[in-house]
Order: sequence, then structure tokens, then C-alpha cells
Amino acid sequence: MRAHPIESAAVFEPSIDRGRGKPALYRDLAKSLASLLEGETDALANLANASGLLAQALDRINWCGFYLLRSGELVLGPFQGKPACVRIAMGQGVCGKAAARRETLVVPDVAAFPGHITCDPASRSEIVLPIVEDGALRGVLDVDSPESDRFAVEDREGLEEFVRVLTPRIAWGQV
Ligand code: SME
Repeated sequence: MRAHPIESAAVFEPSIDRGRGKPALYRDLAKSLASLLEGETDALANLANASGLLAQALDRINWCGFYLLRSGELVLGPFQGKPACVRIAMGQGVCGKAAARRETLVVPDVAAFPGHITCDPASRSEIVLPIVEDGALRGVLDVDSPESDRFAVEDREGLEEFVRVLTPRIAWGQV
């Protein structure tokens, strides 16, 4: 018998072991995401849980979450971390640039990125990944770290896989 959704969420334990290296960590993360979202259709709940899962899985980060495309601008969505700026215009900051270009941006030193928008002054490096569903931009995933140069190629690849698993499982029209 399927557990009651509240019960099953309460006992969800992602099987993530940071000690086995980044490729294994991100493989586990993608699998955990798929099982966390399985059977649930509420977009807001699923994005909230996806940000919670990331915050649990990744070390040396101080913020992770979503900006969603609404009426041509990015608006803050579910996240973990300090309160953040709510609206980011396309092309502005790291998020707006990644969204406008529809490409992942890895920023090893935010102080050296022209136009970087400071939300948490503790952030030193950042990665932003566009979320594109069937050719339509839906928003971005943003992850910040208090360490310079926190996001290596393996992080980029692992987070791109996270977004690939996430994208078809969210009813983007709802959010
Ligand atoms: N630093 C981002 C803004 C969002 S916060 O970091 C959460 C940017 O420059 O777009």
C-alpha cells in the first residue's frame, strides 16, 4: 500500500554519501530527486522539495533555489538560504544573463562578474543553470557558495543532470 504522502515525505531520506566523490554524489542526487518527485504533481511543492534536497546534498553552499520566468522577468521561487532579491530582469545579474543566453554560467569569483547582484554578502562563487522545457525558458536554478571557485566541471555536469531530471517532472504552467 502506498504510504500517505505526508508520511512518505516525512520519512524521505535521500541516499547521498558525499564521501564517494562528486560523480557518485550527483548520480545519487538525480535518483533521489526522481523518487522525491514521483507521484506528486504540485509544481510549487516539487520545486520546494527539490531546493531542500539540494541544500541537504551539497556542502559549502549558502543559497540554492529557483527563479521562475513570469511575464518576461525572473521572480524568486522556492529556495533555501537567506531572503533574496525578488525580481531580476532578463540580462541582469548572473541569473538574468544565464536566462537570456540559455546557458549555464559558472562564476568562480562573483566580485569579478560585472553586474553580479548581491543577495547574501557571504556568496563568493555561483552557478546558474537555465531551465528550458521543450524550447521554452521556465526559469533558472541558482546555487551560491561562500567559497571562491566552489563549482568545478563535475558540479556543472551534475547540476545540469539535476535540471534534466527536474524539468519534465514540473508542471511549469502552474507556477
Ligand atoms: N547573484 C544572483 C542574484 C540571486 S542571489 O544570488 C540568490 C545574480 O547575480 O543574478
